[in-house]
Amino acid sequence: MSITTGDPAVATVEQFAGRVFESALGAIDLLAIHLGDRMGWYRALAEHGPADAATLTGRAGGDPRYAREWLEQQAATGILRYDGDGRFALPEAAAEVLLDHTSTDYLAPLARAFAAAAVQTPALLEAYRTGGGVGWDRFGTDMREAQSDMNRPWFEQRLAAALDDVPAVREALTRPQARVADVGCGGGWSAIALAKAYPSLRVDGYDIDSPSVRMATANAEAAGVGDRVRHHVADAATALPAESYDLVFAFECLHDMPHPVRVLDAMRRALRPGGSVIVMDEAVEPEFGAPASDIDRLMYGFSLLICLPDGLSHPGSAGTGTVMRPATLDRYATEAGFGRVEILPIEDFGFWRFYRLTA
Ligand SMILES: C[S@@+](CC[C@H](N)C(=O)[O-])C[C@H]1O[C@@H](n2cnc3c(N)ncnc32)[C@H](O)[C@@H]1O
Repeated sequence: MSITTGDPAVATVEQFAGRVFESALGAIDLLAIHLGDRMGWYRALAEHGPADAATLTGRAGGDPRYAREWLEQQAATGILRYDGDGRFALPEAAAEVLLDHTSTDYLAPLARAFAAAAVQTPALLEAYRTGGGVGWDRFGTDMREAQSDMNRPWFEQRLAAALDDVPAVREALTRPQARVADVGCGGGWSAIALAKAYPSLRVDGYDIDSPSVRMATANAEAAGVGDRVRHHVADAATALPAESYDLVFAFECLHDMPHPVRVLDAMRRALRPGGSVIVMDEAVEPEFGAPASDIDRLMYGFSLLICLPDGLSHPGSAGTGTVMRPATLDRYATEAGFGRVEILPIEDFGFWRFYRLTA
């Protein structure tokens, strides 16, 4: 999947120009995928079969001239198949990656996230010049929904089984009257997955972003767990009740928090005796290196365009950024009063690593 970077010191002009050209083609694909996703054109092709522009827009709406250009671009770039009869088809593999929200290969939300970030380029430039930020709310619905949709299959398909393999975590989740909190809960799929896997578990989700909490509440109701899963609009640094939870989770959000130590301290105080905090965050390399792994490269992308500007949009922010390495989490946990941080043996779980923090 990587556009090979090679050693920049020995690249020729042609090689480096080729690399930038490849990047431009990749960026075009992402933006075009986002258009097809939001126009509903991939779904129409998947559900009703091959189409030309008139048929496609008849089914899904949109302007036929733009649709023709998009269909041709999609075939030209190798996403759609063109069989020479004027109609374009969505191959099965592409349908899974672009449409199937149950698949851990579902990546349309990745395109949506970077498209939403690109929209904010003027605000990002202003932040880069002044040291200001671009808050989560400003990135809007596309970003919020991209985040939620991107992580959903991992939570729905893999989270409970992965946690169940860790004896201390399983024991906490299966305790009678067990209660857990999910801070920075976003669209709520983590809380829903936990509630479905553990039928007597009660889950409180907390998020500072009210549209996310509305989305999470609706998702929990629709999933049939609204009686045991409650989502609250609240700042996790100040709103968690003391000594209330067997486990407190932070799924891919600690690095976004402007005050991660305050939040971790609040999470620690919210634990019942013997409880633990579980942080799921990016599986970046332990130390900076260049050229870096694809995961590090992707996370620097999120950091430049989304997470660092979001974090820095609050006064006094720690400015962590997406590339939160284990040593940084270790330091935050120590400052928040935890005695021990361990990396859980949960491997091959998307782009993430799991940490368990205990007294
Ligand atoms: C990258 S999203 C992750 C959402 C979700 N956990 C997931 O995995 O999809 C980070 C979330 O943290 C929330 N957040 C940031 N600071 C927060 C705070 N102090 N208290 C509660 N939520 C916060 C944001 O509003 C956002 O929904």
